[in-house]
Amino acid sequence: MMVLCLPVAAIIFAVAAPAKVVTYTLPEGTEDFTLPEGEGSDVTVANCAACHSLDYIRTQPRGKGAQFWKDEVHKMVAVYGAPIEPADADIISTYLAKTYGEPVK
Ligand code: HEC
Repeated sequence: MMVLCLPVAAIIFAVAAPAKVVTYTLPEGTEDFTLPEGEGSDVTVANCAACHSLDYIRTQPRGKGAQFWKDEVHKMVAVYGAPIEPADADIISTYLAKTYGEPVK
């Protein structure tokens, strides 16, 4: 019996050995990210942070132009049910096109 138990115990101890503790510094928090100030930024922040972080906007590729942002806002309303008035949607699309529509220089 002893002959059988020892190797099994050895395996269990080997597997259960505590993992090496790794510490690292997390990048700057993105939770507090807000959009750059500009005409319509207040309306955008008020309407676009309800379901997800504003990072979703910042992380989109640049240079896609105004139509991309118009479509993006429309998709939030039509597909995901964002309760945004058409007049506000226009303000938001214009702001986003101006802020994120152009390629980064
Ligand atoms: C009713 C909830 C809701 C609101 C309000 C909302 N979104 Fe979204 N949004 C979503 C969902 C759901 C997704 C897709 C989630 C995922 O893929 O993780 C998404 C994804 C996105 C993406 C990622 C690209 C994509 O198309 O999937 C962007 C950019 C975005 N939203 C921008 C906006 C903007 C701009 C506004 C304000 C006009 C807005 N969202 C408001 C629900 C919402």
